[in-house]
Amino acid sequence: MNRRRNFIKKSAITGAGIILAPNMSFGGTKNNSNRLRVGVIGVGLRGTNHLNNLLKRDDVLVTAICDIDPSRIEISLNKISKSRKSKPKIFGKDDKDYLNLLDLKEVDAVVISTPWLWHTRMAVDSMRAGKYTGLEVSAANTLEECWDLVNTHEETGSHLMILENVNYRRDVLAVLNMVKQNVFGELSHFRCGYQHDLRFVKFNNGKQAYGGGVEFGEKGISEAAWRTQHSLLRNADVYPTHGLGPIAVMADVNRGNRLVSLTSHASKSLGLHNYIINHPEGGKEHPNAKIKWKQGDVITSTIETAMGETIIVTHDCNLPRPYSLGFRVQGVSGISEFDHHTKRIHVEGTTKGHGWEDMDSWLEKYDHPLWKKHGPGAKKAGHGGIDFFVMNAFVESAKENVAPPMDAYDAAAWSAVTPLSELSIENNGEPQDFPDFTRGNWIKRKPFNWMKDSY
Ligand SMILES: NC(=O)c1ccc[n+]([C@@H]2O[C@H](COP(=O)([O-])OP(=O)(O)OC[C@H]3O[C@@H](n4cnc5c(N)ncnc54)[C@H](O)[C@@H]3O)[C@@H](O)[C@H]2O)c1
Repeated sequence: MNRRRNFIKKSAITGAGIILAPNMSFGGTKNNSNRLRVGVIGVGLRGTNHLNNLLKRDDVLVTAICDIDPSRIEISLNKISKSRKSKPKIFGKDDKDYLNLLDLKEVDAVVISTPWLWHTRMAVDSMRAGKYTGLEVSAANTLEECWDLVNTHEETGSHLMILENVNYRRDVLAVLNMVKQNVFGELSHFRCGYQHDLRFVKFNNGKQAYGGGVEFGEKGISEAAWRTQHSLLRNADVYPTHGLGPIAVMADVNRGNRLVSLTSHASKSLGLHNYIINHPEGGKEHPNAKIKWKQGDVITSTIETAMGETIIVTHDCNLPRPYSLGFRVQGVSGISEFDHHTKRIHVEGTTKGHGWEDMDSWLEKYDHPLWKKHGPGAKKAGHGGIDFFVMNAFVESAKENVAPPMDAYDAAAWSAVTPLSELSIENNGEPQDFPDFTRGNWIKRKPFNWMKDSY
């Protein structure tokens, strides 16, 4: 099923949309449309965002969509009709109807944005059906699932891209550029994490996704319908990739380096209970006030890499706090701490004295070629522009049927933090070994060239 498509790669960007040269063609496939034909599984809040970005592209046809919630299908069809694109085939009559989407010959690539427990099984089925597969974060829930992703990729030759959009943040890519140009010298230590007050997302009243209610599960909608259950039953870093993805690329993980072991600790769990008892629709007598939440409010994991770096990853989603991924990159020549609220750097021999230097001029100097090229058009794509870049990388890689920037090995290694942190916490911080998902090949795998301006 390793079909190679030879798009004639003459593309021009207008705004966030891509217009292809009129004589563009696929080679060696039955696709006469000259476009990548995409099926979208899961058109909830995230999938709709991907759909929007796909609809803006002239090199993509959305040929099928699947969601078990008819209201989401209706919203998607309205968007498709407004964009004057042709109506896709619709699936979603039951949980397994996505398999019928995967049977379609007129689907070359698949974007999966469903709840976490569906991720691996849908991605595995999609790769088995020979589709170029894009999978939302995190990719897997257990170590077995991490292996399923890798094994299926290797058995089928179908590619898997983990759709980690934070890897495309402007500051992240500028710092990656600085890393590649040796600004920090040999690297030693990193920090990152997902620190985002999600109490408003984890609870609602089943009517609106944000801002009302203390219900979840069957009484909630969107992420309250499924994500909150993970906080109830798992004491683990259940969402490691927004922080770890960018750092793993800077540290060449799976390409000359690898994640070796981890220790994790969890604070007590106060945040979700406190939210329920203080919410106007909750209170001490509310049935959900009696729930004992398993997930600690702040979970801290320390990872060791084969090349001797340490990476501290934090999961902090149940307490009031401003959003922060808290990046820190530190090497023998300097250090940077950066995020939306902080941008500071210290480089020995360049920064005056022992203090911090404002990082704006550095970010400008090392601005990534992708952002220079597509930045203005990308801004409206979602999450400050990064959603354009991640979908652009997916589409361009799928058109060529080449390995994506973030592949099955990355999906497995980054997502493995969830089950490993759970085991470590359960065992009082006992170290847990990462499986080597590359089967030793990390020593010779070459880093993806992140510095090009195409994707
Ligand atoms: N990268 C990011 O910035 C980002 C942001 C938000 C969410 N996400 C990720 O995207 C994924 C989806 O999150 P969301 O916020 O859109 O959740 P959501 O609940 O709004 O959407 C999930 C959709 O999947 C559908 N679904 C469930 N089971 C299905 C099945 N068997 N077949 C077809 N459809 C099915 C649901 O009906 C729903 O519409 C999650 O993995 C989440 O972590 C990523």
